Amino acid sequence: MQALVVYYSRTGHTKAVGEEIAKALSGDSEEIVDTTNRSGPLGWLTSGREGSGRKLAKIQPAKKDTSQYDIVIIGTPIWASNMSSPVRTYLTENKEKIKNIAFFCTEGSSGAEKAFTEMEEAIGQKPKATLVITATDIRGGSVADKVKKFAIDIRA
Ligand SMILES: Cc1cc2nc3c(=O)[nH]c(=O)nc-3n(C[C@H](O)[C@H](O)[C@H](O)COP(=O)(O)O)c2cc1C
Repeated sequence: MQALVVYYSRTGHTKAVGEEIAKALSGDSEEIVDTTNRSGPLGWLTSGREGSGRKLAKIQPAKKDTSQYDIVIIGTPIWASNMSSPVRTYLTENKEKIKNIAFFCTEGSSGAEKAFTEMEEAIGQKPKATLVITATDIRGGSVADKVKKFAIDIRA
């Protein structure tokens, strides 16, 4: 099974989890790069507004062709109980070419369920598996076990 893990990450949490998933699946990975400055309090506010307003962000063209993979695993940080705007753009631009999909996210504590429902609607496909990583998981060291189980669910 050829797997591609695609993620956006503003502060590194989703990237760390995404790279661990790619390793567990012996798959490829691609980071979504957006062109907006999201640093500092203003960047936080802009991102929150884009998340809650379901806005699209400008992103650099994808390097990997999703049609070449059996499954694409999409990862996002939760912004205002929603997917991040760069992930929304990626899904909009690539949904026609994705054969099978799975979702993961990182969050402080809540919002994943709503975000996953919107991601499913945006792509028009049910995810094969989902994974939620909270700040408590990261602090408590349970990420590796959760990733292992997620990889088993994806392979099933
Ligand atoms: C603008 C903004 C809005 C956020 N909204 C939520 C939220 O609704 N629920 C939540 O649990 N965490 C929320 N967070 C926290 C992030 O989802 C969390 O820190 C995530 O792990 C960040 O991932 P990253 O390091 O890959 O960017 C928000 C963070 C930002 C920047």
